[in-house]
Amino acid sequence: MPRPTDASAALFERARAVTPGGVNSPVRAFNAVGGTPRFIRSAAGAWLTDADGNEYVDLICSWGPMLLGHAHPEVQARVAEAVARGTSYGTPTEPEVELAEEIVARTPVERVRFVSSGTEATMSAIRLARGFTGRDIVVKFAGCYHGHVDSLLASAGSGLATFAVPGTPGVPVSSTELTLVLPYNDRAAVDKVFAEYPDRIACLITEAAPGNMGVVPPEPGFNAFLSETCTRHGALFVSDEVMTGFRASKLGQWGLDGAVEGWRPDLMTFGKVMGGGFPAAAFGGRADVMSRLVPEGPVYQAGTLSGNPIATTAGLATLRLATDEVYDHIGVAADTIKTAVSDALSEAGVAHVVQATGTMFSVFFAEGQVRDFESASRTDASAYAAFFHAMLDAGVYLPPSAYEAWFLSAAHDDRAVQTVLDALPDAARAAAAAQA
Ligand SMILES: Cc1ncc(COP(=O)(O)O)c(C=O)c1O
Repeated sequence: MPRPTDASAALFERARAVTPGGVNSPVRAFNAVGGTPRFIRSAAGAWLTDADGNEYVDLICSWGPMLLGHAHPEVQARVAEAVARGTSYGTPTEPEVELAEEIVARTPVERVRFVSSGTEATMSAIRLARGFTGRDIVVKFAGCYHGHVDSLLASAGSGLATFAVPGTPGVPVSSTELTLVLPYNDRAAVDKVFAEYPDRIACLITEAAPGNMGVVPPEPGFNAFLSETCTRHGALFVSDEVMTGFRASKLGQWGLDGAVEGWRPDLMTFGKVMGGGFPAAAFGGRADVMSRLVPEGPVYQAGTLSGNPIATTAGLATLRLATDEVYDHIGVAADTIKTAVSDALSEAGVAHVVQATGTMFSVFFAEGQVRDFESASRTDASAYAAFFHAMLDAGVYLPPSAYEAWFLSAAHDDRAVQTVLDALPDAARAAAAAQA
């Protein structure tokens, strides 16, 4: 049954009068699925409450950060104490040191620098890679999103080794003419560009496991291959763990491959979970590379609110509470939901594939495995839109786009999971009816 949306609709109208499209980040607008975006008034544990008083099981968790669930009492308490001490000083603080120590202890990075968004983290990592190597070309993969950095909002040029073209109006050609965009999971394409541009590639940046075209796990050994190829050619390997960091596993995606296979990225980027729901992100890596940053080295980078005491306090509390039990719990809940979604869609005759890396997963409404952006693009977006709305009407908030990861938290208990399971059969039938 459709739920009341009058209050959300009224807020959306007001929002559109003062904000482009009525939202402050595009996917929130429901453009990909149609309908009225829900304005959320509050959240607790696994649940969101919207302006009309409707409750939803939250399967986006603020697009990843809320690993412990919303309004976790201990995180709230630490944040409240920190707020009482003042919110920003523009000086070094102890929570920054503690959070940096926690990240250095849990990841292969030796030094870390805080920023306020994942976009800033990848932008700064690329500048540092160029400053360190004295080279100019950046290699990325189609379908990997690294935030809205001009040089990374790029689409592949006409051939594999040709430079990219701007992916959006507003990005000048000059910003993407040093970017090469390759198909994901394609080793031959990587070999080709390194052969074509020896001595010019500063870095290769990749999502450690792409989650921004839906979840597309790296094929076995792919990240190791990238790391080894970069090292052989004197380029830096930048692993973007903004989404997967402290999320796919306790040690992020690196915990699932690098830690097992024995390699480490030269630079990494983090965000989302490490900010505990506040704007905090970071880039870090090899000490010799990081020491090229100001004020130790010459590569410029700065930020008024970088390492802000509230955000670092929330991040530190979150990481300290992110125990093995948390990841085990999320893993079990994810497995239950993945199996049930797949069963319901199979039963209704909807072509689909569920893909996962660690505790992160997504459901493609497409035939066959998805290994790159081209295969992800075969998704039946109309079937997903019908599925999304049926789930929403039944009290489950999925990503309002067919190309996104689904996120769970430590607070997704039996009642929350059961609400999702109960909604699936009808939603699967709605998807079947809407299939393109
Ligand atoms: C892998 C990855 N990198 C970078 C970013 C950009 O982070 P932010 O939105 O905090 O700028 C995102 C955001 O979703 C991301 O998923």
